[in-house]
Amino acid sequence: MSRRRRGERLARIAILLWLPVAGGLLWLGLRPPQGGATGVVAKVRGDDGRQVITVNAADAGIISRVMRDNLAGLRAIEQALAEGDMAAVSRAAETWAATPGPARQSVTLEQQLPRQWRSMGFSLHETLRQLADDARRPDVQAETVAAHLADAVGACIACHETYRLVVAPGESGPRPP
Ligand code: HEC
Repeated sequence: MSRRRRGERLARIAILLWLPVAGGLLWLGLRPPQGGATGVVAKVRGDDGRQVITVNAADAGIISRVMRDNLAGLRAIEQALAEGDMAAVSRAAETWAATPGPARQSVTLEQQLPRQWRSMGFSLHETLRQLADDARRPDVQAETVAAHLADAVGACIACHETYRLVVAPGESGPRPP
């Protein structure tokens, strides 16, 4: 076979191999929105613009528990700050940072929660660890701790602005302890 013929044949094979991929991409783009099914993230039209995460009742309970713990963690730090007790600030931040997030408590949530959710949760925990470290320094300024606290609340706000939950029937897979 001549070099040119072989070149043309390879080009044809390459095009043929690409067709299913292109078709698949087209189908992904054209199919109707996949709302409703558990774990699907969809933009809700005519709603408040947040993405919906559909979870089962047990997983909603896990998320709700974590969120109330978040609020309690925030208060523990602020109370220790009000008492001027930096060691207690550090301990409170450490305890909170070590509290496992929702994806660590349920297999289904681990699969369903979007990457961006996980990264916002991770950044919250990172901020808390930093806060705990800084509060332990003998020369720490209250402003430094306050700045970390503002970052932590920023993470709460960012995620709350992005997602809302809808509860739908479905099995959950709580993790064994
Ligand atoms: C990675 C995402 C994320 C982060 C970070 C986050 N939240 Fe949430 N939180 C949510 C979602 C989603 C809801 C449910 C909102 C809805 O459905 O309207 C929620 C709900 C809550 C609720 C209501 C709980 C209930 O029982 O109904 C509280 C309280 C709360 N969050 C506190 C916090 C605080 C305080 C922080 C930060 C210290 C925080 N959250 C950080 C995602 C997050």
